[in-house]
Amino acid sequence: MALLDRCAEVAQQPGSGITVKGVGCHGPCSDGPLFSVACGDEVRLISVQSSSASELAMELQEALSRGSLREWVPRGCRSLDPQSPFLALQRRIVLERCGQIDPEDLSDAESAGAYQQLNAVLAANNPEAVIDLVRRSGLRGRGGAGYPTGLKWATVAAMPGAEKRLVCNADEGDPGAFMDRTILEGDPHSVLEGMAIAAFAVGAQHGFIYIRAEYPLAIARLRRAIAQAQQQGWLGTTIAGSRFSFDLELRVGAGAYVCGEETALIHSIEGQRGVPRPRPPYPAEHGVFGLPTLINNVETYANIPVLHRLGLERYGVGTKVFSLTGHVSRSGVIEVPIGTSLRTIVETMAGGPPDHKPIKAVQTGGPSGGCIPAAALDTPVDYDSLQALGTIMGSGGMVVMDSTTNMVDVAAYFMAFSREESCGKCIPCRTGTVQLELLLRKLLARKATVADLEQLERLSETVRDASLCGLGQSAPKPVLSTLRHFRADYLALLQPLEASR
Ligand SMILES: Cc1cc2nc3c(=O)[nH]c(=O)nc-3n(C[C@H](O)[C@H](O)[C@H](O)COP(=O)(O)O)c2cc1C
Repeated sequence: MALLDRCAEVAQQPGSGITVKGVGCHGPCSDGPLFSVACGDEVRLISVQSSSASELAMELQEALSRGSLREWVPRGCRSLDPQSPFLALQRRIVLERCGQIDPEDLSDAESAGAYQQLNAVLAANNPEAVIDLVRRSGLRGRGGAGYPTGLKWATVAAMPGAEKRLVCNADEGDPGAFMDRTILEGDPHSVLEGMAIAAFAVGAQHGFIYIRAEYPLAIARLRRAIAQAQQQGWLGTTIAGSRFSFDLELRVGAGAYVCGEETALIHSIEGQRGVPRPRPPYPAEHGVFGLPTLINNVETYANIPVLHRLGLERYGVGTKVFSLTGHVSRSGVIEVPIGTSLRTIVETMAGGPPDHKPIKAVQTGGPSGGCIPAAALDTPVDYDSLQALGTIMGSGGMVVMDSTTNMVDVAAYFMAFSREESCGKCIPCRTGTVQLELLLRKLLARKATVADLEQLERLSETVRDASLCGLGQSAPKPVLSTLRHFRADYLALLQPLEASR
């Protein structure tokens, strides 16, 4: 903020000829703090290395007095190479406006195209065609389970009754995941526009965005975006002169991971304790306050205006936004075409481990996902290929681990997370995660026997098969996938006599 404020002071001087604005995240987080300089079509990303805000503002002043900012790279800063794999291999369609527009200024978003697709959809007045486009695009939910979005929309649209509800799941609780946060902080109107189009398609009049309290900046920007969209007539009654009315409100959750699960989330919106319930009935049939409800993830909604703008052919297979963390040289948020290989993402784009250690595993899907061994790095990142490896695409958190990582330790970390976050409603999850963690800790203390290892495997399968909701059903995945791909790490921790049995 200090950099923004000081540069804005310089820009305000008469005749400066420049505009300074705050934007959302550009993506290459490990190079941050970052700012971009746009001259005509040329946009350069600049990484601040050792300058203070005051020094930079002085340099900006000097550069302006010299005439142009075209080649300007202040002292203590570095210009990022746009041809570097991290930037060049991306296809930024959902994140296109993130880092470009001021997310707190609706007119800036509108001049970059916000709400044009909603306008066109309302003018065409054909909800079936909207659902058909989503169905034919093959778009699958970006929140984890990968359910076909068009099918979900068609189910909600077909439900009887005049009152329906819409929910945006912005709970984003996976450790190492910050994709939805990036979208909401950088371009909140893309999500609001996607929600309004979805509401028109399924016939919903009211919506909720459920967001965790740990995202104060995203909450503030969303609040502002909603107020501005209401003021401008993009939300509210008779939107854009049509007969369609839709409004929405924010619900701030206290940060329980299980509240990302759709039935727990619905309870939380209703003011009840955030615990899941068995499905069916699915939210499409019996959702918020018993009404048919469409629930989609932030990134799923943000895809909708893009799909309309590009059309089926140019949209193609679509993209996925990932957050890259762990043992990587370049961490941050990227958007790549679905089907990009894991190797391209973690080796070429993220640069692999910083000290050239070999990669041992890549964790995808957070506590509900699993670990992919280095031997499978050429796998295309799509829903089905990752599932075949015992993990999931999940919401997009990707944690890279180098050869020094003990995979039993990793499994224990995720199990501790699931144990802590289990709501305790069903016994397999409540007691199973405790027992599984104890077995993993016993292994790490080198006190486990072969019988313990067998028990770990059996109990993992029981918890997976018997738990009430996705939290318990997937909590054993980090154990099962590491047992499958990294069994040697487990065997090496058995008591010496036991390992040879
Ligand atoms: C324990 C648990 C946590 C979840 N957390 C999230 C979350 O933070 N965000 C999200 O979009 N979906 C989350 N989901 C998936 C949702 O239940 C739901 O499938 C999703 O919001 C549907 O949206 P989509 O079809 O657009 O992916 C979670 C599921 C489980 C079981």
